[in-house]
Amino acid sequence: MAIMQVRNVSKLFGPHAEQGLELLQQGWSKERIAKEKNITVGVNRATFEINQGEIFVIMGLSGSGKSTLVRLLNRLIEPTSGEILIHGQDLRKMNKEQLRNVRRKTISMVFQKFALFPHRTVVENAEYGLEIQKADKKKRREAALRSLELVGLKGWENKMPDQLSGGMQQRVGLARALANDPEILLMDEAFSALDPLIRRDMQDELIELQDKMKKTIIFITHDLDEALRIGDRIALMKDGSIVQIGTPEEILTQPANDYVERFVEDVDLSKVLTAAHVMRRPETITPDRGPRVALELMRERGISNLFVIDRGKHLLGVITAEDANHALRNNLKLEDIIIPDGPRVGPNTLLNELFEITSLSKVPLAVVDDGGKLLGVIVRGAVLGALAGESKNEEVKTNA
Ligand SMILES: Nc1ncnc2c1ncn2[C@@H]1O[C@H](COP(=O)(O)OP(=O)(O)O)[C@@H](O)[C@H]1O
Ligand SMILES: [Mg+2]
Repeated sequence: MAIMQVRNVSKLFGPHAEQGLELLQQGWSKERIAKEKNITVGVNRATFEINQGEIFVIMGLSGSGKSTLVRLLNRLIEPTSGEILIHGQDLRKMNKEQLRNVRRKTISMVFQKFALFPHRTVVENAEYGLEIQKADKKKRREAALRSLELVGLKGWENKMPDQLSGGMQQRVGLARALANDPEILLMDEAFSALDPLIRRDMQDELIELQDKMKKTIIFITHDLDEALRIGDRIALMKDGSIVQIGTPEEILTQPANDYVERFVEDVDLSKVLTAAHVMRRPETITPDRGPRVALELMRERGISNLFVIDRGKHLLGVITAEDANHALRNNLKLEDIIIPDGPRVGPNTLLNELFEITSLSKVPLAVVDDGGKLLGVIVRGAVLGALAGESKNEEVKTNA
């Protein structure tokens, strides 16, 4: 369901901005309008919807209009034309009071520059948003402590910002936005100033957080890898226009035009695709079967091992054909030959990490969820195939 609808929204800067609208309609480029009319096109007739609970990424090079677009979404700036609806309500028709309510309860923004007050403690920074809303002292402290815990900063509440690393400071910024308990988080290049590794961690945590809290997140980035990693859908911007909206897969495999194609051609798939993309349906057996059944199953399917799962699909381990033969000869049970400690990864593990694990391991690599349920198996060939750009759709279907 759409939580926000953006219809034909433009933002032009300059003394006679409205004139530019007509010129855009006539097909003038941003460059020409700037040169001949001294009007800057920030956003050019953007139309899209944001679904409840998704991570919607707005991606584009510097100057493509991302920040302008995101500021329009909470009316920090006024559009030159177009409509923006939140829960079906027109943002532009709201009075001050209604707008204040939207900013209080519906949308919170996280900025790139950490924007922390140096002389306030971490928790005082986290509760700042609620403080200016004049929320009850005790309540706002509780909300701030809760959101600090959510972002992994329990124990740091009374530190000063300069005692924290860059990554932790950005977490405080995130906690401040979360303390409002908004439905929608707007994050403008929120991770762009972080070191790559810390940035990765933050991306993972954002995905996890979103999963837990079911927030709608509008995430701005100029980084394609980041967009592909965290976006449920991505809108790619160029010169103020949205040139394509799609899932990461769609953007990679069905680029809408030459621009998108060039944008994605250098993508390192090993840093984008995950275990979930390349896993296959695992062959399994329950431990109450005997070794003869196990061997028969392996023979039938032309494989040399099986995953052992319980009735709840939890992974117990792996058995090999060799061990099953041994068990058959020596009257052992299946339970006796389970190898319980084979390698396991989560569905979000990146391919470049899988590579190393699959090459080190003799038994197949299992993909399990947080609760230890078996989701799939990684076959080495599939990892290589995906990197070579084979169709990924086939593997995705076997996730069930
Ligand atoms: N307040 C402003 N006045 C004039 N031009 C602006 C203003 N804000 C942004 N722009 C212009 O709008 C375009 C888009 O900028 P911006 O939204 O900041 O891009 P991004 O966030 O993608 O880097 C740029 O050409 C920029 O110079
Ligand atoms: Mg920007």
